[in-house]
Amino acid sequence: MRIKLSERMQTISDMVIPGEAAADVGTDHGYIPAYLLTKEICPRVILTDIADGPLQRAEDLFERNDIAAEFRLGAGIEVLEPGEVSTVIIAGMGGETIMDILGKDLKKSHSYKRLILQPRTFIGELRVWLSENGFRFTDYALCRERKLINEVMAVETGDSGEPENILFSRFLLDKGDPLLCEYLDRMIAIKENVIKQLGNSKEENGELIERFKKEKEYLESIKK
Ligand SMILES: C[S@@+](CC[C@H](N)C(=O)[O-])C[C@H]1O[C@@H](n2cnc3c(N)ncnc32)[C@H](O)[C@@H]1O
Repeated sequence: MRIKLSERMQTISDMVIPGEAAADVGTDHGYIPAYLLTKEICPRVILTDIADGPLQRAEDLFERNDIAAEFRLGAGIEVLEPGEVSTVIIAGMGGETIMDILGKDLKKSHSYKRLILQPRTFIGELRVWLSENGFRFTDYALCRERKLINEVMAVETGDSGEPENILFSRFLLDKGDPLLCEYLDRMIAIKENVIKQLGNSKEENGELIERFKKEKEYLESIKK
């Protein structure tokens, strides 16, 4: 089976610890595990999902292509044993869901060598939460998927040093990702739009406007 992953899924796969077992939590289509197994990057992959339909879809793909893997129906890491795999991937979900999954059993979350996370919302909140809960960032990348630019982060147990910035990842800034400028421009444009909308509203939004202006100025300052 030949799999051509999207840039987002390729970025996630490239952060997996090679030669060791992995789990894909909320796998849905199962493309990332199929890639990891057929490319022999991982000797064993566990696919999990909270919903029967998506897990069945992944099982069908594996059956059609004669790929062996383990499938587990259930929420988050509840269906994994502590330390059972080296890498746990949780991608394509809201940051609040990812925090909920990891926070339910923090000890277990720390039993895996590496977590690869790709939140779609509450990204800054997740970053701060991770640094406050004993995780340090070991990799961070931006990647395109259709019109979106996504953030993919790899974390391991450890001290992240300075507190994380909710607006933007320090790791990403230091790394100088190729999509950094474009991503910052998009974030600045979103802030500008919100400020404009708040200004046009009949409500009293002075404090909120000030907050968004400060955030926009901060993003402009780190772009320089
Ligand atoms: C948008 S899909 C993302 C699929 C894939 N991980 C990706 O990045 O392309 C989200 C999947 O996560 C599953 N999901 C949502 N909450 C979950 C949870 N708490 N535990 C396990 N799976 C969950 C959904 O059923 C769905 O199949």
